[in-house]
Amino acid sequence: SAGGLVLSTGARIPRLGLGVWQVPDGARCERAVRWALEAGYRLIDTAQAYGNETSVGRAIRDSGVPREEIFLTTKFYPGRRNPLREAEASLRRLGTDHVDLYLVHWPQGGPTRAWPGMEAAQREGLARAIGVSNFDPADLAALKAVAQVPPAVNQVQLSPFEYRRELIDACAADGIVVQSYSPLGTGRHLSDRTVGAVAARCGRSPAQVLIRWAIQKGLSVLPKSVHRERIVDNAAVFDFALDDASMAELDALDRTGTTSEALAAERKWWH
Ligand code: A2P
Repeated sequence: SAGGLVLSTGARIPRLGLGVWQVPDGARCERAVRWALEAGYRLIDTAQAYGNETSVGRAIRDSGVPREEIFLTTKFYPGRRNPLREAEASLRRLGTDHVDLYLVHWPQGGPTRAWPGMEAAQREGLARAIGVSNFDPADLAALKAVAQVPPAVNQVQLSPFEYRRELIDACAADGIVVQSYSPLGTGRHLSDRTVGAVAARCGRSPAQVLIRWAIQKGLSVLPKSVHRERIVDNAAVFDFALDDASMAELDALDRTGTTSEALAAERKWWH
């Protein structure tokens, strides 16, 4: 929906996608992906570490939506050695011949270690674009120093409460699209009073306000839900806008201090 963002590869990535972290492989995951595709989502975000690539792949094939209309992301699990081989295994589980985006799931083990294998996965056509997740500006700088192909995306936890301005600016300067996972703070931010007040003022749900905030920041955003009505609700964010005063109120919720501090606090949440 709404055109999407342009990656450094020239491909487009949708602004809104379904995240399926912590959704076990099986009927629940398949249903969530199918409902999302029915609701118009065209970006599905999974990972080797989530253990649900098989269900994601089945739901995509069963949906009847042509594969080329869907932007599919998976992530290399850095505990493994060989991103090229792991990509082959992910593609087998997903039942497709390529992913649109393949991310290093986190920098632990060294922000550059996996990169040559990621570049190989792209060169071999297994991944149309490659990127990273949970990288802070220092991790990105280390990677930039050695990368032949720069990362197209950095996917991090990001919301008004974890508003990583420094990271967003660093990525913008390098042409890296930032993706927000857990835009609802894994649900914790939905009951915030300020979010509720903004939502009441514009006649929208708190979830829609948080997702819309991310979209207006120029991010691609990945709310997670396994409930159909929520999946539908979370996608209805392209027919309204938050005004400057609302955006400023939400921006002021930032409680992260420095970016590196924020990411350190989130290390336990990696997904
Ligand atoms: P569920 O999956 O049971 O629907 P995040 O995207 O920040 O990780 O947040 C995901 C959490 O927020 C999940 O627990 C999800 O629950 C819940 N959630 C997602 N969308 C909504 C919504 N529109 N209203 C209320 N809760 C939601």
